[in-house]
Amino acid sequence: MEKKPHSAKRESPPREAAAALLVLLVLLLNALLYLYLSELRGSPGRAEAEPSLCPFGYFRLGSVKNCSPWLSCEAINREVRKLKCVGEGAVKKVFLSEWKENKVVLSQLTNIELKEDFLHGLKMLKALQSRHVVRLLGYCEKQFTILTEYHPLGSLRGLNETLHIPKYKGMNTWHRRLMLAIDYVSIIRYLHSSPLGTLVMCDSNDLDKVLSQYLLTSDFHVLVNDLDALPLVNKSSGRLVKCGHRELRGEFVAPEQRWPYGEDVPFDDDLMPPYDEKTDIWKIPDVSNFFLGHVEGSDIVRLHLFDIHAACKRKDPAKRPSAQEILDTYRKVLTLLIREVAMPGTREML
Ligand SMILES: Nc1ncnc2c1ncn2[C@@H]1O[C@H](COP(=O)(O)OP(=O)(O)O)[C@@H](O)[C@H]1O
Ligand SMILES: [Mg+2]
Repeated sequence: MEKKPHSAKRESPPREAAAALLVLLVLLLNALLYLYLSELRGSPGRAEAEPSLCPFGYFRLGSVKNCSPWLSCEAINREVRKLKCVGEGAVKKVFLSEWKENKVVLSQLTNIELKEDFLHGLKMLKALQSRHVVRLLGYCEKQFTILTEYHPLGSLRGLNETLHIPKYKGMNTWHRRLMLAIDYVSIIRYLHSSPLGTLVMCDSNDLDKVLSQYLLTSDFHVLVNDLDALPLVNKSSGRLVKCGHRELRGEFVAPEQRWPYGEDVPFDDDLMPPYDEKTDIWKIPDVSNFFLGHVEGSDIVRLHLFDIHAACKRKDPAKRPSAQEILDTYRKVLTLLIREVAMPGTREML
C-alpha cells in the first residue's frame, strides 16, 4: 500500500501552521470563555427583563407558567398559613409560611411607630421588582403584612456558615465569591439608577446591618430584601439625604455621615449636613472584603481590586467612582483571572 505523502508533514508541521493552530486555539478558548461568562452573568437584556414578563401587580412562582395577581388581604388571610419565625429586624418579624404548597415569607410590622418605614419599604418593593429584588407575592397595608418568596439560605450574614456546609463547599471559591460581590455591586448600581431615581441604601451603618438586608438565593445569587430605608437623592435639584436623625460614628460609615464639628459641639441633627449616594460607594470595599473571605485566590482578587477600592475610600465623595465604574472593574478582573486560570501566562498575547 502506498504511504500517504503528507504523513511526514503531519509529524513536523511548518511553523506557520503551528502558529495558526495556536491562534485558532486561543480564539476558541476566548469564545468558550465568553460563553461561560455570559452564562454566569446572564445576558443583561434577558435578566433585567425577566421579572417584567409578568406585568406590574403580578408574580410567577416556581415552575408555574401563569402570572398570578399579588395576593390581597383576603387571599393572605384565607390562603397563607404561618409556620415559624425565621428572622426579625428593627421593623419586621419574618415568618416562614405556606401558600398553596409553596414556602413563602410573611413579614409583619413589629412596632406601629415604624409604620412609615414599613410602608416605604412596601412601596419600594412594588416599584423596584426586578432581578435584583426579592419577589413580592402580595401585601396587606391595613394589617401591615408583606408576602415574599422564601429563600432558605437566608440573609448574607450566614454566608460563611453556608459555605462551610458540605453541600456548598464546592461554592467556596474565589470566583464564586467574586461573583457574589459582582451581584452586590450590581444591586447598588441598580438602586443608584433605579426607575425612581437615585436611591441610597441607608439601612447600612455597620457590616452586619448591610448583610442582613440582602438574601442569598439557592443558586448563589444576591437579592436585596429590605428596602425600608431608601431615600431619594436628586443632585440637580439639590435634594440630598440623611440616614436617620441620630449621630453616626465609626469607620464603616462614610466620613460625610459623621458629625463634622468635633467633640466640643454636641450633635444636633438640624446642623448635620446632608449627603448623597456616594456613602454606599464608601462601604463597597468592606462588603466586598467580606464576600471574598479567606480562600485560595481571594488575596489575588483583592490585589486586583486594590486601586478601585482605594478610590471608593476617597474622602471627597465626588471623587469616588460610580457603582457602574466599580462593576465594570469587577467584571474585568473576573474575566482576566478566569483567563489566567484557563491559560496561564497568556495575558499579554490576548
Ligand atoms: N424572603 C426571605 N427568605 C428568608 N429569610 C428572610 C426573608 N426575608 C427576611 N428574611 C430574614 O429576616 C431578617 C429580617 O428581615 P428584614 O426584611 O431585613 O426585616 P427588618 O426590616 O426588620 O430589618 C433578614 O435579615 C433575613 O434573615
Ligand atoms: Mg433589615
